[in-house]
Amino acid sequence: MTISIICTDRDPKPWLIALQACDPTLDVQVWPNERQKADVEFALCWKHPKGVLQEYPNLRCISSMGAGVDHFFGDAFFPKHLPVVRLVDPQLTQGMFEYICTAVMYYFREFDLYRIQQRELCWQPRLPRSMEKMTVAMMGLGKLGGYSAGRLATMGFNVIGWSRSQKCIPGVKAYAGEEQLDEFLAQAEILICLLPLTEKTRGALNLQLFSKLPNGSILINVARGENLVEEDLITALEEGLLRGACLDVFKEEPLPEDHLFWSHEKILLTPHCSSVTDPESVAPQIVQNYRFMQRGVELLNQVDMSRGY
Ligand code: GLV
Repeated sequence: MTISIICTDRDPKPWLIALQACDPTLDVQVWPNERQKADVEFALCWKHPKGVLQEYPNLRCISSMGAGVDHFFGDAFFPKHLPVVRLVDPQLTQGMFEYICTAVMYYFREFDLYRIQQRELCWQPRLPRSMEKMTVAMMGLGKLGGYSAGRLATMGFNVIGWSRSQKCIPGVKAYAGEEQLDEFLAQAEILICLLPLTEKTRGALNLQLFSKLPNGSILINVARGENLVEEDLITALEEGLLRGACLDVFKEEPLPEDHLFWSHEKILLTPHCSSVTDPESVAPQIVQNYRFMQRGVELLNQVDMSRGY
C-alpha cells in the first residue's frame, strides 16, 4: 500500500515531508527508488517519464501534482483505464487571482506606457479610465478562471467570460461555445487566457484570434505556453494589434536565453510563478483521495481525460 511520487522538474522532498506530516502511517516513496513497484497503488505525478507508469502493476489512481493534467498527454503508454485526479486548492486559486490582478492593474493604469515615457524623459500624465469602462475578458471559466473573473468584477471592472459550456458567475457576463466566441473577443480589451491545454485549445491564441480583439488590446497568458502561437504574438505586437502581453508560461521552460521574448519591449514575462502549488496546503486532499480510493468512494476533483480537463 504505497504512494509513489513520480516527478521530474520538481523536488519531491517537500511533497514527501508534507504527506508524511499529514498522515505518519502512510507509506510514501519516491520514484525511481521504490522498494517494490508492485506495492504502489497511488501515483502522484508531475511530468513523469513516458512509459514509466507501466511499471506499476497494481496502480489504482493517478494524481497530478498541480491544477493542470496536460503533462499526462503524449504518453502512449498512459494507463487510460485508471482514474486521474488533479489538485484544486484555495491557496492556488488565490495566488492566481493575485497575479492576474497585478497584471490587469499594471495595464489598466498604463504602467507599460509610463515606462516608455520614463525612458524618453517624457512627463505626460493621462487621465485614468474608470474601471467599469474597461472590459476584462477571461477565456476559461474553470476553478481558477471563474474565481478570478468574479473577483475582478467585484473590484469594479466590466468582466466578461468565455468557456466551452455555459457558466454562471455573479457579476460576469458569460459567453459560451464557438458561436459566441467572436462576440466575446470583439469586446476584450484585456484578454486573460486560463484555458486548459487540450487538442482544441493548442495554438488557440493566434493571429486570427488577435485580429478579432479591439485594436491595442492586452494579452495575459497564465494557462500554458502551447496555447499561444509565439510568432503570431510577435506579429500582433509589431503590427499594433496588441499593445502588450504579460506571459507566465512558455512552450519551452525555462525560456531559452536566446528567445526573442526576453528583450521584447512589449512583453512582460515571469518564470511560471503565477500560482505555485504548496505541498503542505494540498497534502490533505491527496491523502483524502488516497483514502477514498482505498474505500472505493468517489474521488475529489476527478478529471475527464477524454475531454482533457
Ligand atoms: C501549474 O501550472 C499547475 O498546473 O498547477
